[in-house]
Amino acid sequence: MSQTAFTPRVFSGIKPSGGLTLGNYLGAIKRWVAMQDEGMETVYCVVDMHAITVWQDPAALTRATREVAAAFIASGIDPAKSILFNQSQVSGHAELAWIFNCVARVGWMNRMTQFKDKAGSNTEKVSLGLYAYPSLMAADILLYHATHVPVGEDQKQHVELTRDIANKFNHDFKVDFFPETIPVIEGPAMRVMNLRDGTKKMSKSGESDMERINMTDDADAIAKKFKKARTDPEPLPSDLEGLKDRPEARNLVDIYAGLSDQTPQQVIAEYAGAGWGRFKPALAELAVEKLAPISGEMARLMDQPGEIDAVLRRGAEQARNIAEPVLKKTYDIVGFVR
Ligand code: TRP
Repeated sequence: MSQTAFTPRVFSGIKPSGGLTLGNYLGAIKRWVAMQDEGMETVYCVVDMHAITVWQDPAALTRATREVAAAFIASGIDPAKSILFNQSQVSGHAELAWIFNCVARVGWMNRMTQFKDKAGSNTEKVSLGLYAYPSLMAADILLYHATHVPVGEDQKQHVELTRDIANKFNHDFKVDFFPETIPVIEGPAMRVMNLRDGTKKMSKSGESDMERINMTDDADAIAKKFKKARTDPEPLPSDLEGLKDRPEARNLVDIYAGLSDQTPQQVIAEYAGAGWGRFKPALAELAVEKLAPISGEMARLMDQPGEIDAVLRRGAEQARNIAEPVLKKTYDIVGFVR
C-alpha cells in the first residue's frame, strides 16, 4: 500500500456528548487549528453518529453538536480554510462503514481496548453500534482518503485498525485504492489532568465542576478554578526533574506551557523558585486571556444557532464533493450495480 501516491489530507473528529474541556482545546482543537494554518487540507467533523453509540437525549445531542461546532469556530477553525461539518449530513460515512463491517473481522473488533473499557462486564447489554464503532471511524477517515489523523493516545488502536481495514480491502479486491493512514499522536504534555487530582485525566464527566475548565467557562470561573487548583506546598523547581512525583504541579506547568506556546522547560526557567502565590495568578491571567475570548465567541454563536447550522450545511456539501466519488469508486470495486 503506497503512501506517497495520495495527497496529504487531515481528518479528525470530536463526539458531541457532553461539554468540552481545556483538555479538548489543548490536546486536540488547538493542534487542529495549527495544521489548518500550516496550509494542509483539513477536514474536521462533529461525529454525531459516534455519539449515539450510547444513549443521547435528542435535544441534548442537537445542542452538543452545535456547541462542538461553535468551539471549533471560536478556536480558529476557519470554514474558509477547513471543511467543517457534522457526520450525519454526509450519508457516505454510514454507507462505507457497512462495507467495512464486511471487511473487518470479529477477532479484530474483539481486541479493541476502548470497547472493553466502555462495555466493562456489560458486553451483552451495550449497543451493537458501540462494538462496530471502530469500523465507522475507519469509514470517516477513508471516505476522504485522509492520510493524517491527529488523535489522542487512546485512539491510536482505532487508527491502526483503519490501516488494517484499508490493507485488507486493497488486498481482497486487488486494488491500491485506500491510503495508509498515519496517526499523529499528541504529546503526553498535551494531556491535561484534573485540577483536583493530577493523576486523573481532566474529564467532562467528573463529579465536581472545580476539577475541570470547561470551554464555556467565563473569565471569573476560569480564574477561580486555577486559584483553587490543588497543589503541594513546595515552590516551583528549577528543572523538570523537580516536578517528578508532583502531578498537580506538573499539570499546571504543562497547562501554562500549552497556553503560552512554550515548552514546560521554558516555563520552569521563567518561574524557578516561584511560590504558588505568584504562579497561580499568572496562570489564571494567561488562561483568561486565551480562553475568555473563545468562550465569549462560543456564547455568541450559541445564541445564533442558524449561523452554526449554515456553516455545517456548507461544510457537509464540500465534504460530499470529496466523499461521493470515493464511495462510487468503492461500490464499483465491490461490484455493486448502479
Ligand atoms: N473516536 C474518536 C474519539 O472518541 C472520535 C472520532 C470518530 C475520530 N471518528 C474519527 C477521530 C475519525 C479521528 C478520526 O475521540
